[in-house]
Amino acid sequence: MITGGIFLFLHGCEPENQNLRSRQNFGNDWKFTLGDPEGAQREDFNDAQWRNLDVPHDWSIEGDFSRDHPATPGGGALPGGVGWYRKGFTADITIGKQLFIDFDGVYRNSEVWINGHYLGKRPYGYSSFRYNLTPYLKPSGEQNLVAVRVDNSAQPNSRWYSGSGIYRNVWLVTTAPVYIPQWGLYVTTPEVTDQQAEVSVVTRVKNSLGKRVRVQVRNLLYDQNGKRINGTISDKKELDGNTNLEVFQKLDVKKPSLWSVENPVLYRLVTQVLVDNKVVDRMETSLGIRRCEFDSLKGFLLNGKPQKINGVCNHHDLGCLGAAVHVRALERQLEILRDMGVNSIRTSHNPPAPELLDLCDRMGFLVLDEAFDVWQKSKTRYDYALDFAEWHQRDLQDMVLRDRNHPSVFAWSIGNEVLEQWDSTGIQLTKELAAMVKLIDPTRPVTSGLNFPVPENSLIRSGALDLIGFNYKQADFIRFPETFPGQKFLGTETVSALMTRGSYDMPSDLIRRWPVRGDYKGPGPNADFTCSAYDNCSAPWGSTHEETWKIVKKYPFLSGQFIWTGFDYLGEPTPYWWPSRSSYFGIIDLAGFPKDVYYMYQSEWTNREVLHIFPHWNWNPGDSVDVLAYSSYPEVELFLNGKSMGSKIRQGDDLHLMWRLAWEPGTIKAVSKKEGREMMIREIKTAGEPAKIHLMADRSEISSGGNDLSFVTVDILDKEGNPVPHAGNLVRFEISGGASLAGVDNGNPVSHEPFRANYRKAFNGKCLAVIRSSRSPGKATLKAFSDGLDPAELVLTVK
Ligand code: GAL
Repeated sequence: MITGGIFLFLHGCEPENQNLRSRQNFGNDWKFTLGDPEGAQREDFNDAQWRNLDVPHDWSIEGDFSRDHPATPGGGALPGGVGWYRKGFTADITIGKQLFIDFDGVYRNSEVWINGHYLGKRPYGYSSFRYNLTPYLKPSGEQNLVAVRVDNSAQPNSRWYSGSGIYRNVWLVTTAPVYIPQWGLYVTTPEVTDQQAEVSVVTRVKNSLGKRVRVQVRNLLYDQNGKRINGTISDKKELDGNTNLEVFQKLDVKKPSLWSVENPVLYRLVTQVLVDNKVVDRMETSLGIRRCEFDSLKGFLLNGKPQKINGVCNHHDLGCLGAAVHVRALERQLEILRDMGVNSIRTSHNPPAPELLDLCDRMGFLVLDEAFDVWQKSKTRYDYALDFAEWHQRDLQDMVLRDRNHPSVFAWSIGNEVLEQWDSTGIQLTKELAAMVKLIDPTRPVTSGLNFPVPENSLIRSGALDLIGFNYKQADFIRFPETFPGQKFLGTETVSALMTRGSYDMPSDLIRRWPVRGDYKGPGPNADFTCSAYDNCSAPWGSTHEETWKIVKKYPFLSGQFIWTGFDYLGEPTPYWWPSRSSYFGIIDLAGFPKDVYYMYQSEWTNREVLHIFPHWNWNPGDSVDVLAYSSYPEVELFLNGKSMGSKIRQGDDLHLMWRLAWEPGTIKAVSKKEGREMMIREIKTAGEPAKIHLMADRSEISSGGNDLSFVTVDILDKEGNPVPHAGNLVRFEISGGASLAGVDNGNPVSHEPFRANYRKAFNGKCLAVIRSSRSPGKATLKAFSDGLDPAELVLTVK
């Protein structure tokens, strides 16, 4: 909507930006100590002996695994405790300027002081929060001191690994005295067609001056090429001292480029606050123009087209890097998932790092943003249930306020399997929480993951859920339209299959349900704490991958699912307990190496040509071995040492092909075919003894500045270059030049080797070294050695 007076702003340059707002990363050069020294919040406290480090930082991941840590193996068997962080800084304080400190997340019970003044406490470790430092700052040039106490000592407080410390980013934000407060901008696209869209913007302005001012708000919209396409300016409004106001504006977009998972087009909104015609504040917001709808018959529609939600649940840890947020590690996870065909992420069971949502906006993932794993009723002894009464309103509102401008976020989840579903206490709470969400964002549906998804469930009885969130119970999916007439389905959590990368239990078509319950008659869990990667092992409350996908695939009213889980995570080592310390649920292991079933999804969820055969070909004489193929072409012929073992064609809803062979050493070769033509070939050879190391970096050029990462895959090969499937060789790393080792892993849930080390045993032939750039550019060299093997070397460029 353009009116004449604004013509100038549309065609001229953006009016002068006085750059009064600044947002600086405040992560470098903190002092840290484990423990709880008396008086550490005081300015004159002597922290000379403390460690220097940068945040994001997770102290738990630096510890040793032990079954005796109070977190238990369920929490990852790593230490918790209390830690303190301190950082000094100077601030240039001109009269009226505002200075804030923003924490994206501190696990947990953070307390913050500035120059000895107590600013407050935040129990929930996943909320983002801000403090205003302005009233307590020293004059320009003098040292200020921020002190943060983090208390993660009362454990267990989580059903998975939480990490401990300032594990997300910290920012210093400066503004003018009249400014847009935190999360003070709300952008929605209430009307979207191919021809036209309406962008609606609500801008909140705060006046921290003691006197009345006259403000205007200008919003300018730019397309993906940086071209300004529309703008609007409000009338002048009187704003009394120390008050807020909200300005509502609308902008039309002709022939919008719509945000979708295939083409996640982002527009850019520039918001300016003017006082007496001068710009005093300026903010940029990315936005996507898209229309999300759920339909009881057609499932989920994005921009009017049915779109199956092919999603995964993930916890927030980044494997060997722990909970400490690294944007590149998040991006790598999403790249691996996108290559598999995943288009949606559930942030189980808590608000994510804000950077994850930025990446999802940019890379085209839909997000189910989840608030809580518990409400009033606890699942572990010291969990959030203890804080729920006092904090849930604030935490829930803050999540929605923070995340509501992200086009990726398509629904809110107010809880996962909360125990209130089993009795009537859930009714009132569901109404209350859903209403809180709707007050802040009426544009997205509210759901909750329910493992008791029947009409009697009190969360459903509340009538306040827009989507019935099924956790498991896939056998009931088909009856959904009869059980819940006119309602909308979402598979909030599915599958819970169990797999160890590279481990195979025959026969492949015998399904194990572990941990063993009830009348199960099959084989029990394995003595070596593995689960089979044939997709023939699942939790009894879940299913194999194929079992659930066959159902979800078939019925359009099933909008889609979030598989438990995309990546393995620390903690919850089902079906085992100690000595296991991380999950088996991932489609991808903790180090980021895909398990075989990854390729089943790739063959179903992408348009790629896929042919994946497994297992390895190192068995014993007399073994009967099942060879499976996931293939995008329905026909595959298999050869053993040149002899055809037969051509097979997928029938009905088959998702794989299988040959049962008497093992002999040599080569298996698979050829996929289309109408008789050979399309793809895959071969696996019986490997000899380990002979050499092979290194491969996901990126050989990384940015300086200290935050970029390169993930180096280490393979143990025989002298012909074949991967050695059971190799467990100990690999030692040396790194020199402009980078350091950030972590090592091998994806083995039973390994007790530390993640911060310069060595790692291979597990089933592989391990991983994560390289972190230094602050300045240069070359970096990684060398890998192992007794009796040819070493390997890799050179990285740090730009
Ligand atoms: C679900 C739960 C998840 C995880 C999973 C393991 O019931 O929501 O957090 O525990 O089970 O199968």
